[in-house]
Amino acid sequence: MIDRPPSARRHLPMLEIEPPGSKAERAAPTPDDRRLAQFRPEIRSLPCFYVWTLGCQMNRSDSEEMAGRLLAAGATEAATMEAADLVVINTCAIRELAETKVIGRQGYLQQLKAANPSLRVVLTGCAVRERDRDGLERRFPAVDLFLRPDEEPELVDRLGLASAQAPVGVVGATTMVGRTVVGVADHLAATRAAAVAGGAVQRSSAVSAWLPIIYGCDKTCTYCIVPFSRGPERSRPFDEIVEEARAIAAAGFREVTLLGQNVNSYGHDLPPDPRFGHVATERWAGRQLDLGSRPDLAELIRAVDGIRTADSAPAIPRLRFITSHPWDLSDRLIEAMAACPSLCESLHLPVQSGDDDVLRRLGRQYTTEHYLERLARIREAVPDITISTDVIVGFCGETEAQFERTLGFLETVRYDQVFAAAYSERPGTPATRLPDDVPAADKRRRLNALLALQEPIGLERNRAWLGRDVEVLVDTIARARAHDHDEPDTPAGEGSEQRGVRPGPGQVGLSGRTRGNKLVHFAGERDWIGRLVTIRVDHAGPYALRGQPLT
Ligand code: SAH
Ligand code: SF4
Ligand code: F3S
Repeated sequence: MIDRPPSARRHLPMLEIEPPGSKAERAAPTPDDRRLAQFRPEIRSLPCFYVWTLGCQMNRSDSEEMAGRLLAAGATEAATMEAADLVVINTCAIRELAETKVIGRQGYLQQLKAANPSLRVVLTGCAVRERDRDGLERRFPAVDLFLRPDEEPELVDRLGLASAQAPVGVVGATTMVGRTVVGVADHLAATRAAAVAGGAVQRSSAVSAWLPIIYGCDKTCTYCIVPFSRGPERSRPFDEIVEEARAIAAAGFREVTLLGQNVNSYGHDLPPDPRFGHVATERWAGRQLDLGSRPDLAELIRAVDGIRTADSAPAIPRLRFITSHPWDLSDRLIEAMAACPSLCESLHLPVQSGDDDVLRRLGRQYTTEHYLERLARIREAVPDITISTDVIVGFCGETEAQFERTLGFLETVRYDQVFAAAYSERPGTPATRLPDDVPAADKRRRLNALLALQEPIGLERNRAWLGRDVEVLVDTIARARAHDHDEPDTPAGEGSEQRGVRPGPGQVGLSGRTRGNKLVHFAGERDWIGRLVTIRVDHAGPYALRGQPLT
């Protein structure tokens, strides 16, 4: 018998007594783990909760999931913050103003707590970043519990609300990925799937549904806090997303929006799958990445569009996605946009600046030439497509001439809508190493100049719809509008189209969106909410259209 070296000796099969799963998931917390202080098991009774959501669609979607988990645990929803004994604040940190808005409410929350000693306040969302954890209690003194975006599925457990019968809570584990602490790789995706399967997503609309497809962001935009609050990109498994879309269709939703900070890079982190052997997308700009044999956004759009009714119409008539980063905008995606009837003719494609030098310092990884080339292709493939964008003015070192180039760029592209904001330095981002040297007054002036330039362009783009019949998905009954979130682009005149609507007897003022995402005001019946109606456009303003329903 040959005596092999010990390493080559075969071991007898052993019974696996440890359950499968990563070591990180099972590691016991050490006593110095500061998260231990964040468990509040003394909160026993089922609370009446109120969720205050700021920020983008991602936060709105996350709030729907948190509200759903709380309801599934037996809690009830309060109509106002004042009536609640659990307030969940889902924060945004994109600009300083978004954070100061919540900091400014701390005194009021403390008053509510004095009046109701059982009131608990939870702060979630992008203001909760691991590296700034120490400062959180000082900045948000009314808060009892802080949860990072990837910890949100733990909400119910951390409050001691999970019952043995209700599998709605889940205590996750964290790990370091690159520069950020995040949940274990598939933590959010897995808990999302469980929440959807268990009915624990409280969708705020019965007409339009958010569908998260990718969490986090791998881009390196120098000004942006998102990669620090939401961690690296993690795509949800393809089949789970299609399954959720199927459930959304079965529940009668008319519209679904695929969500992510950068939906165009969907799938690059998923394992290769023979079903997608034909996918051979090269990344278009920026860092090279092998995206072959993995599902991409184009495949996902085709699969969701492919969910059909018995008469082979798309089961969800309207499909959208947000947000697209120009560097991953592939020809495959453009082809899918042109080929899929449910995909709406509108695209939000943030450019940020019309000057190549500023773009480089913003870390955007594309040039204006690349952006314009992609845009020309999209406009050729999808006629009548509406295009919107984001612009930052007054970034570090932006000269007057560079700003003027941005204005020239907007004149060339002629966007339907521009969301513009003054640069706001965010702690910990790479741009903090550059001097924030454009004076506040200049930032304001540039912002106003930009909005003044865009207003007639928006009007011209809207006038192109005069006299045309548009399909509108009715989603709102007119009322005084209250905006919680930090939308810097809502000028005073925006409600004027709504005010011009004159409902007849028994009618109400309604509004909805065209496939091109244009806001349309008109008069109609209350029960039109959720329906697709045809409106003949007879008035166009810079921010909205008005018209008459065709019976
Ligand atoms: N992932 C999306 C954007 C998310 S943030 C994308 O890349 O398009 C939404 C917008 O906020 C950005 O497009 C940018 O215009 C703006 N923004 C982000 N950080 C900012 C900052 N520090 N100051 C001002 N605006 C900022
Ligand atoms: Fe921020 Fe850039 Fe990522 Fe958008 S792509 S979330 S702007 S880092
Ligand atoms: Fe969204 Fe604000 Fe976070 S824009 S991703 S909620 S910083």
